[in-house]
Amino acid sequence: MITSTTSRLAARLTVCLALLNIPYLAYADQSCAPGDMGCAIFSGQRAAAAHLRDDNQPLPEWTTRCVNCHTRTDPSPGFAPPLTRGYLLDARSRRGGPPSRYDPVAFCRAVKDGIDPASVVLRKSMPHFELSSAECTALWRFVTNQ
Ligand code: HEC
Repeated sequence: MITSTTSRLAARLTVCLALLNIPYLAYADQSCAPGDMGCAIFSGQRAAAAHLRDDNQPLPEWTTRCVNCHTRTDPSPGFAPPLTRGYLLDARSRRGGPPSRYDPVAFCRAVKDGIDPASVVLRKSMPHFELSSAECTALWRFVTNQ
């Protein structure tokens, strides 16, 4: 009796977990080529440690996925700028600064230190990431399709 109740509960729990996990797995599975580290970081399949400016508290991993806030389509429907080849490589005025464009070094500075190519400080909602230069370069290649 106890055993069958327990196993019924276990079965229900499994179904619930499976239901909860389906969208998550589908999302995490999102079309990254094997070995594409930039894609894995962008989509959250590879964790990226980060904190907010003026705050040394590490952010929970699930909040730091680039895809939570950025899209790779222009115009962006989100509240953060799109991370596209055009948006990053074109010379344009960003946040009222003089026209500027990204290169790999400027990109890594923005992602790690929250400063854009015209030296304008990004809003606090863009986290500061702790990435190796290999990880940052992989992200740059992924978002610019290079
Ligand atoms: C919690 C939301 C959030 C997450 C997660 C996030 N960003 Fe951002 N990001 C922003 C916001 C908001 C801005 C715009 C800041 C501004 O305009 O001052 C921004 C700006 C940027 C910029 C500068 C773009 C420009 O307009 O010059 C780059 C580059 C960037 N993010 C890359 C990344 C990458 C790469 C990741 C993942 C490793 C990431 N972001 C994760 C919110 C986020």
